[in-house]
Amino acid sequence: MRTDRTFTMLKPDSVEKGHIGAILEKINAAGFRIVALKETQMTTADAEAFYAVHNERPFFGELVEYMTRGPIVAAILEKDNAVDDFRTLIGATNPADAAEGTIRKLYAASIGENAVHGSDSDENAAIEGAFHFSGREMF
Ligand code: RTP
Ligand code: MG
Repeated sequence: MRTDRTFTMLKPDSVEKGHIGAILEKINAAGFRIVALKETQMTTADAEAFYAVHNERPFFGELVEYMTRGPIVAAILEKDNAVDDFRTLIGATNPADAAEGTIRKLYAASIGENAVHGSDSDENAAIEGAFHFSGREMF
């Protein structure tokens, strides 16, 4: 039986601030296995497609600007209960509301620049992982 998977991006602010190593260490320490990993940069079309669910929201333009302004680190992660456990590890969308010790509490500056992405369902985890990785890049 395959273990559950989720998808994450270390967003441009995390890369800019040199937090890739620290965040990956938190992810490893929490028991996630890295199935796929790469540094890449989203185009405007990529970000608009990835976050299409938010395209009517007032922050959509800012979100696309932010997510495309520099490289990200994309990863597929494996663990029992991966989607929910990863959302717990990253904390609330707004770092002001995030629990102590969570990745967003430690590394996010604001609700708009919140350090990491985490899939919100098994279905979206599969879609988002396939958006960034081919089967040959998953191990
Ligand atoms: P994500 O999808 O990136 O893991 O974040 P999330 O589920 O915690 O939050 P979601 O509601 O899906 O929002 C997606 C991303 O949009 C930006 N945002 N900005 N300025 C704002 O009010 C606002 N609200 C959301 C954040 O980058 C958020 O992670
Ligand atoms: Mg979301």
